[in-house]
Amino acid sequence: MRKYLIAANWKMNLNKTEAISLAKEIDKDTNPLNSNVDVTICSPYIHIPELIDYLMYSAISVGAQNCNENEKGAFTGEISSEMIKSYGCEYVIIGHSERRQIYNENNELINEKIKIALKNELKVILCIGESLEERKSDKTNLILNSQLKEALVNITSDLIENIIIAYEPIWAIGTGITPTLSEINETHNAIRNYLIEIFGSKGINTPILYGGSLNDKNASDILKIKEVNGGLIGGASLNSDSFVKIVKIAESYTEL
Ligand code: PGA
Repeated sequence: MRKYLIAANWKMNLNKTEAISLAKEIDKDTNPLNSNVDVTICSPYIHIPELIDYLMYSAISVGAQNCNENEKGAFTGEISSEMIKSYGCEYVIIGHSERRQIYNENNELINEKIKIALKNELKVILCIGESLEERKSDKTNLILNSQLKEALVNITSDLIENIIIAYEPIWAIGTGITPTLSEINETHNAIRNYLIEIFGSKGINTPILYGGSLNDKNASDILKIKEVNGGLIGGASLNSDSFVKIVKIAESYTEL
């Protein structure tokens, strides 16, 4: 069985005091050192150094929510993947639908970001997802496959080991609405088949997370689905009780 990854996406929330106290609560109530579940907090950049210090002896890792596609240079206001790595982050989210929609990131740019993040030895959480219109017109698999194909250009099968896919239907993010369990099951199976088609047997092990209104109420059903290997959690990760409950549900499915 693949190890679950439960990833918090804090987005642009929490001031310094709030961020540290939420991390403390999550750390106190989870014990990933003794568990078969990986837990990571993808934080706003500015909190990363403090979180890394605070979580130094914890098994909870820290991630970023984005990175620039260049190595370094005159890109005012940007953060490079090398900087992120140098602070001790393990993960970086790339291609979140908010970045695609609000900041016009396309698959080509996302591919550049993935390549530089992998070069700097970060694990990439690559987000893909369809709009409601695309789902209603039966284009979901077509859209997801083209997002995967274009975002993963020149990513060889040995590099895919450091990539995690997060399937996040755009219409489910922050709305309280999720696809049905059978839709999630079908879509994750289709993603799995496509990964195997591109990467052969290496595609079998790529974790596929579900994201979009995942919470402590629906996590037991969603995480039970065979090809759901964890979750990317926005709103429910801002509350330690609900986030910890989701971690515990994943733990209960992977007793050591
Ligand atoms: P949500 O966000 O859990 O608040 O729907 C998920 C995400 O955007 O990663």
